[in-house]
Amino acid sequence: MFNKRVLNVKPSATAELIGKVADYKRRGIDVMQFNVGEPDFDTPAHICDEARLALDNGFTRYTAVAGIHELRESIAKKLKNENGIDCAAENVAVTVGGKQAVYNSIIALCNEGDEVIVLTPCWVSYIEMVTLAGAIPVLVETKEEEDFLLNIDNLKKAVTDKTKAIIINTPNNPTGAVYTRASLEELAELAVANNIYVISDEIYEKLLYENGQHHSIASFNEDINKLTLTINGFAKAFAMTGWRIGYVAGDKDLMKQLIKIQGHSTSATNSIAQKAAVAALEGTQEPVAHMVSEYANRREFLFKRLNEMENISCAKATGAFYLVPNISKFFGKSYNEYSINDSFDMADYLLDEAKVAVVPGKAFEMPNNIRIAYSNSLDNIKEGMNRMEEAFGKLK
Ligand SMILES: Cc1ncc(COP(=O)(O)O)c(C=O)c1O
Repeated sequence: MFNKRVLNVKPSATAELIGKVADYKRRGIDVMQFNVGEPDFDTPAHICDEARLALDNGFTRYTAVAGIHELRESIAKKLKNENGIDCAAENVAVTVGGKQAVYNSIIALCNEGDEVIVLTPCWVSYIEMVTLAGAIPVLVETKEEEDFLLNIDNLKKAVTDKTKAIIINTPNNPTGAVYTRASLEELAELAVANNIYVISDEIYEKLLYENGQHHSIASFNEDINKLTLTINGFAKAFAMTGWRIGYVAGDKDLMKQLIKIQGHSTSATNSIAQKAAVAALEGTQEPVAHMVSEYANRREFLFKRLNEMENISCAKATGAFYLVPNISKFFGKSYNEYSINDSFDMADYLLDEAKVAVVPGKAFEMPNNIRIAYSNSLDNIKEGMNRMEEAFGKLK
């Protein structure tokens, strides 16, 4: 029999959709893709130049498991200056994307049967990672009518003497919600009072709009800093998804455990990507500002356009590059052979009928919504929304 934990993990709910999109594209059918959580921009030139230089200099060997010192220092400096987190190079491990940072954090903390609170809607991997660790995911819903913000009273009800950690993700994938400082302060108090670790996934921290402001929970005081693993990466802010580089920062003794896991699994991430990451942090931040201002224009258009559509409502989101319109008013409606009873039906219908790819909210524990990534050009967003509105109109 195969491993029970692995058998309990669900395969990616979006894999089938990605296969279908690829199939349409192979047949030359023009699909508007809003399903992929990936910047549509190229990695900034000065970052690529640094990678070329690393190659030319033969910087192609294994590095220290936790990453090159130069990068760990640079990350610690960034966390101190930008995020206000008291941190030095030895508090930092460079990982194979933000994803490995989250996974190693969960593995390093959890014993069999520990409970880990996951705020939903959530990124697809948290629940499965907790399951792989042999721990128990405890889901606490953030509500659409509260713009998916952190509700500390609901969170308190989920805490038991088995609670080992709480995973937070602000700005949030999929909802785009950005947690307020006041709510994070309450969370920090709760965590410290109950000795609960906080895994704070801040990978979308740069992608903020309107009055969205990012706060790192680890910066609040020494006690919460000791209990927090701050996760970040280069994929979303610097358009570096394929480089596979992220990081985690936390208490020195805990970091030693995380680094041990990495040492026996992947070892260090790619040496060339590490050099490029130093350039990303130390070089000009102008390309990041440019990308954010582009996302802001698209978000503004998309938010207005969605809320003008009949039967659609869309919560305000001031971060990341996603909007999550509520499509539940269409449940029970149909067109030709399509009957819409859940978000999977809607995603299938929109792909087949409108050639628009979105992710069904059920994949993120958000059954009444679909996720639209606006990491696509404004022209494509305009065209995609026209197609979507027409397809919605056919459902009776
Ligand atoms: C919330 C969240 N955390 C972590 C990651 C992982 O990012 P990376 O590509 O750096 O592994 C993603 C990627 O989609 C994400 O959405």
